[in-house]
Amino acid sequence: MINMVFLGPPGAGKGTQSEQIIKDFGIVQVSTGDILRKAVKDGSELGKLAKQYMDEGKLVPDDVIIGIVKDRLKEKDCQNGFILDGFPRTIPQAEALDKMLKDDLNISLTHVISLEVDDGKIIERLTGRRTCPQCGRGYHISFDPPEKQEICDECNTQLVQRDDDKEETIKKRLNVYHEQTEQLKDYYRKQSILTTVDGEKTPDEVYKNIKDILS
Ligand code: AP5
Repeated sequence: MINMVFLGPPGAGKGTQSEQIIKDFGIVQVSTGDILRKAVKDGSELGKLAKQYMDEGKLVPDDVIIGIVKDRLKEKDCQNGFILDGFPRTIPQAEALDKMLKDDLNISLTHVISLEVDDGKIIERLTGRRTCPQCGRGYHISFDPPEKQEICDECNTQLVQRDDDKEETIKKRLNVYHEQTEQLKDYYRKQSILTTVDGEKTPDEVYKNIKDILS
C-alpha cells in the first residue's frame, strides 16, 4: 500500500511524476490545485473563494482545504493508495492530515517524497508549462513539447497556460513555498518518512529514483 505525500516547490514536477506513478502503481492522485481549478472553472462558491487567493499566488485558508481533502480521502478509490499532490502545505494542514488518517481511516503515510529544484529553474519551467483543458495532460514548450505546436497529442485540443503561471505570480508562489511549506520537510524528517529526490534531472531519471523508493 502506498499512501504518499509529494512535497516540492511549484513546478518541481509533482504533477508530471504523479502521472507516471498512478499508471505503474494503480493508485490515485489527489491534487488540491486540480480540485480548486475545477471549482474555479465550474464557478462554484468554493471556486469563487479560491480564485482570489490563487490569482495572487497565496494559499487558500487551511480550514477550507482540510475539509476538501478529508472528504476526498474517504472516497472508495483512495482505499488502494493515494498520492497527495499539493497537500499539506502548512504545519496545521500536516497535523490535520495525521489526525484524519489516524482517527477516520486508521492508516498512516508510507512515503513523503520531496522534489528538490532551484528557484531559477522553476521560473523557466512554469513559464513554459502548458496543459490540455480536455484530458489534463501536461507539456512543456521546450522540454516536453506536443507533436503539433500548442495541440494535445492525446485529444487534439488547444493547450492552455495556467493563470498563475505568470512570472510575477510564480515569484509570489515561490516565496509562499519557502515561508510556509518548506518547513514540512523537517516535520516529516522527524517522523522518519521523508526522502529527497533531485528534481533537476530529466523526467525519466527523476522517475527512476522515485520508482526505486516506492518499489
Ligand atoms: P498547485 O496546483 O498545487 O500548484 P503548485 O504546487 O504550485 O505546483 P504546480 O502544479 O505548479 O507544479 P508541479 O510540481 O506539479 O510541476 P509540473 O509537474 O506541472 O496549487 C495552485 C494553487 O492552489 C496554490 O498557489 C494555492 O493558491 C492553491 N492551493 C493548492 N493546494 C493548496 C493547499 N494545500 N493549501 C492552500 N492552498 C492550496 O511541472 C512544471 C513544468 O515543468 C511542466 O511544464 C513540466 O513539463 C516541466 N517539468 C517537469 N519535470 C521536469 C524535469 N525533470 N525537467 C524539465 N522540465 C520538467
